[in-house]
Amino acid sequence: MIYITRRERFSAAHRLCNPKLSDEENSELYGACANPHWHGHNYILWVTVKGKNNPGTGYVVDLKQLSALIQEKIVKKLDHKNLNLEVDFLKDTFASTENLAIGIWDQLQPAINELGVELHAVKVQETENNYVEYYGA
Ligand code: NI
Repeated sequence: MIYITRRERFSAAHRLCNPKLSDEENSELYGACANPHWHGHNYILWVTVKGKNNPGTGYVVDLKQLSALIQEKIVKKLDHKNLNLEVDFLKDTFASTENLAIGIWDQLQPAINELGVELHAVKVQETENNYVEYYGA
């Protein structure tokens, strides 16, 4: 089994807040990410797929196809968007990096299977100091 990873990037705004809490309580819980006036991150996304090497091409998967799929399903929906307000698959969730990774996994998995490989991991970096990895369970 070979594992191969494609990196993509997007920039997006968000705010972490629990609507049941006051601004002060949200600020205590989420720190700067609770700013009621939003803020942005330059996110980096790594999508790792696994499969067998195709002896006819030397590829596990055509990275052009994988990139086009991530662009279509994810980057187009997230880049320069407000994650709290504008993204259908993040509706009704906290706009955390964890939920972003889970949402991205759920969007990508069926389409990646159609490329003849399996989704192995979604890694989302929010800042240089924080990233989340999700393996689908
Ligand atoms: Ni933030």
